[in-house]
Amino acid sequence: MYFTFKVIFLISIIGTGRVGSTIGFLCVSHALDDVLFVNADKEIAIGESLDIASAIPSSSKFSISATDDISQIKDSKIVVIAASVGVYTTDRAEHIDEQVKMIKSIAGDVKKYCPSAIVLVVSNPLDVLTYYFQKQSQFSRFKVIGIASSLDSSRFRYHVSDKLSVPQSSINDAFVLGEHGDSMVPIFSKVTINGDSLLSKISENDVDEITSSVRDYWKALRNHKSRSMFGIAKNVFDVINCIYASQEMTVSAAILLENEYGESDITMGIPVKINNNGVSEIVTIPINEKESELLKISASKIRHQILSVSTE
Ligand code: LAC
Repeated sequence: MYFTFKVIFLISIIGTGRVGSTIGFLCVSHALDDVLFVNADKEIAIGESLDIASAIPSSSKFSISATDDISQIKDSKIVVIAASVGVYTTDRAEHIDEQVKMIKSIAGDVKKYCPSAIVLVVSNPLDVLTYYFQKQSQFSRFKVIGIASSLDSSRFRYHVSDKLSVPQSSINDAFVLGEHGDSMVPIFSKVTINGDSLLSKISENDVDEITSSVRDYWKALRNHKSRSMFGIAKNVFDVINCIYASQEMTVSAAILLENEYGESDITMGIPVKINNNGVSEIVTIPINEKESELLKISASKIRHQILSVSTE
């Protein structure tokens, strides 16, 4: 026991590898609420939390702790799931059966210990795991949010900025929809650069090139680094911060669809408004015919993956 004062665990992070611990670091260093690290290997969770505890601002009354006992997530306001059974190398769906088994078990615990929590799913395959968490927990679909398409949208913005040599701040409405995987769909038709349409500034070839770069970003990154963590952690932190500060933001995120974007009973990235209750609104943006076709392909890939899971 290295903790001696009262802690209310309001933000629980399940899975404290690189991504989970970086999310915790951002929460703690920005003096958000108490953070609890939960990891099957308690030593890892304790090590990360002790390191991060030194980043608590002196003005903060909040703290960080660690456990391998999932019952300690009791009454969490937010639960982040960043756990993983192994590292994928060629495809985010590599360990799909084991990951689904894991998420179903976590869903049972979250339902038992903090039935009012807002759940942010970060583990891969993102869309499939968000789907199975919602199905298993039967939480409102507006409280089970897969965070990844906002990361893909950051990568989209980055590549547009690079192609046109313009600062990212001049780029608006760069959304990526669909799967957090090879079929994701950057929506070019809505993007503006200082108010001008992006599509009036780039060729069809550029569209294809940027689309491939956004889809393959994680693979390119892995040529230089074992796996990503800062980008996804910051995107998750922004959502946590928005929920805590009772602000509102519009981001691409995965939720269960019920007739939005022509799809039902699958989970995929679409633009949503998030506030302190979770998703407050699903945002319908106009997309062109080609984008709509690509989104159908992406949705059908996710549906296929959901159905492919062995339920054993
Ligand atoms: C990536 C991981 C977070 O895209 O899926 O880098």
